[in-house]
Amino acid sequence: MNFDRLAKVYGPLEAVTAGGKLQRCRVALLDAIPVPRRVLLAGEGHGRFLPECVRRFPNARIVVVDASTAMLDVARARLVGLSGDAAARIEFVHADVSEWEDAGGGFDLIVTQFFLDCFGADALVAVVARLGALATPDAHWLVADFQIAPGGWARWRSRVIVDLLYRFFRIVCGIEADRLVLPDAALEMAGFARHKRLTSEWGLLKSEWWRRG
Ligand SMILES: C[S@@+](CC[C@H](N)C(=O)[O-])C[C@H]1O[C@@H](n2cnc3c(N)ncnc32)[C@H](O)[C@@H]1O
Repeated sequence: MNFDRLAKVYGPLEAVTAGGKLQRCRVALLDAIPVPRRVLLAGEGHGRFLPECVRRFPNARIVVVDASTAMLDVARARLVGLSGDAAARIEFVHADVSEWEDAGGGFDLIVTQFFLDCFGADALVAVVARLGALATPDAHWLVADFQIAPGGWARWRSRVIVDLLYRFFRIVCGIEADRLVLPDAALEMAGFARHKRLTSEWGLLKSEWWRRG
């Protein structure tokens, strides 16, 4: 899987196809969660969430891990104009999050946005378990992602959109997954329970807050 070739156009593509809908989904629960000390943004890509996180949590240390250097460059560029101390609180790491080792003592907030949907069933369990191992016993986890709406025409609509997205990302980025796998069981296995859930776009988008302990 390689998102490098998409990095520069990912933001414009999102703006054209979804307007502000994905961003609203990303930040929907940001004001609801407790203030964290250390935040892990896994697969943060083009960094739309990062400046919001920096502003909302002015004392938190934030680690951004992504497997694409080009995506990390785009995310880094978003910090221009933020206050001087922000850069000192943020670390950008080019790594596969399944293999990356953290030396910082655990994260009390994990954020995965439109990231877990890149993985097939087995890889998803492994990635969630790995992220869970990086989380503190009292950690919170924000998930924003696509989902298949529960019924009616909205279900049909979401299936068509999600299917098109998988075709696109498989061809352009070589993602391994060919269908959406819910991360719920993997999150529960990692010791998290869903605390809050919002849906939007006729059930196509979900914003979830999971927590441990
Ligand atoms: C679909 S993009 C999502 C970007 C962003 N989080 C968003 O909200 O739109 C998935 C991102 O996950 C990254 N990624 C995929 N597999 C990864 C892995 N194993 N470890 C770290 N990053 C990964 C990709 O490089 C890409 O930037």
